[in-house]
Amino acid sequence: MSDILVLSLFILSSTMFALLIFNLFNKKQKSLNLPPGNMGLPFLGETIGYLKPYSAISIGEFMEDHISRYGKIFKSNLFGDKTIVSTDAGLNRYIFQNEGRLFECSYPRSIGGILGKWSMLVLVGDMHRDMRIISLNFLSTSRLKTHLLREVEQHTLLVLDSWKDNSVICAQEEAKKFTFNLMAKHIMSLEPGKPETEQLKKEYITFMKGVVSAPINFPGTAYRKALKSRCTILKFIDIKIEERIKKKLDDEDDLLGWVLKNSDLSKEQILDLVLSLLFAGHETSSVSIALAIYFLEGCPRAVQQLREEHLKISEAKKQSKEVELTWDDYKKMEFTQCVVIETLRLGNVVRFLHRKAVKDVRYKGYDIPCGWKVLPVIAAVHLDPSLFDQPQHFNPWRWHQNHNATPSLSSGSASTSCNNNFMPFGGGPRFCAGSELAKLEMAVFIHHLVLNYHWKLADEDQAFAFPFVDFPKGLPVRIRRDP
Ligand code: HEM
Repeated sequence: MSDILVLSLFILSSTMFALLIFNLFNKKQKSLNLPPGNMGLPFLGETIGYLKPYSAISIGEFMEDHISRYGKIFKSNLFGDKTIVSTDAGLNRYIFQNEGRLFECSYPRSIGGILGKWSMLVLVGDMHRDMRIISLNFLSTSRLKTHLLREVEQHTLLVLDSWKDNSVICAQEEAKKFTFNLMAKHIMSLEPGKPETEQLKKEYITFMKGVVSAPINFPGTAYRKALKSRCTILKFIDIKIEERIKKKLDDEDDLLGWVLKNSDLSKEQILDLVLSLLFAGHETSSVSIALAIYFLEGCPRAVQQLREEHLKISEAKKQSKEVELTWDDYKKMEFTQCVVIETLRLGNVVRFLHRKAVKDVRYKGYDIPCGWKVLPVIAAVHLDPSLFDQPQHFNPWRWHQNHNATPSLSSGSASTSCNNNFMPFGGGPRFCAGSELAKLEMAVFIHHLVLNYHWKLADEDQAFAFPFVDFPKGLPVRIRRDP
């Protein structure tokens, strides 16, 4: 047989094989009951529409349009993958509860590139579990009581005391200062205001811009700059590690000290853990504080009720000659908890999460094929009018005054419905490790804010979802110190 004949036969059989596979795949896809939807343009899919900025207290045009056309569960092509988008509270819960069994965390590769392959956000399986245990240990309620409450209060006062009466401050920046300083202290014992802390903060700003930008690795892009910042930050942390090892500094009561002493993580793993905890722990809670300042500015009745609650606490402290806030004081901040919870519901700092199906899944008659991306959209549940009355309205009174971690409404079926559908911290085995710290930070910040200041927007600004939540002007507010 000539070479040409052999080649032709090979090409023919390969083509037939490919056609067979394609047909089988197509048949399987056709026999599946996929949710309705639109796969958009080739490759790009519907990503551009999905990422178009919109007011943070809404679900945006894309989501509104798709839900009204296809319902709460629809298919699309997003971030280069075939995707099932879920704005259905039940499916979101199902996804969280079945992490590791039917679904798995699956952030875009660009996020892994920037946060590192050992970042908790991208890890799955046993390694994720080990890192999670370390983080939970460090953010436990007992540590909140013994260490973090005091530090949270000190860092709050450091920021608030620096404000000049009748000046305009950029509330978002101030909140970032507070949460960054707190995390840097708790993770690496960095002191606020010191040149090294300020340098790290500056580097982190560039880093953050890259985390939320398009992952285009060309000279001059935000992503490229962030990758450079990642290296600088890692070098910084590395120097701290070496210092401790050299000087045998093993009595530092921070995360770095604990990990060096008690874990067998490699240096590369420690670096990514520290980097991602700094990231997870300061951006989300600072935006939440800025959102609380913004929502409260538009709701004087809530500010009044907060003042009454916090005056009562501070007067009782004066009588007992106590200065620092105690855990008991925190537990008395019942209405404050309603404000915190309502801010998280309406502001939706984390709007959606990235998952993929690791098995074929059937839910409410729909098929979710193995390998497809799945996006549980938390914001759409929090802003669903069938679950929350007037969802775009800031109404802390919708939550029963209950200072426990879980919010609840006063009575009846609405109460259960609100509880079940409130998931700003995700759920299941990946539930936010810092949720209690975040709520504590917000409550303590609000405590000193309402006791010492009045504030008004100094310029029109509002929160946008890019989809990361941000105030384009940084939330400028004019503050007046209480006499
Ligand atoms: C209001 C503020 C916060 C919000 C809304 C928030 C939200 C979330 C969400 C939704 C997740 C789940 C991600 C996923 O399942 O893919 C998460 C995970 C995480 N968060 Fe937060 N977070 C906040 C504050 C914090 C703080 C202050 C820390 C402290 C370091 C923190 C540490 C973490 C960690 C370590 C994880 C990964 C947990 C795991 O994978 O097991 N978060 N957060």
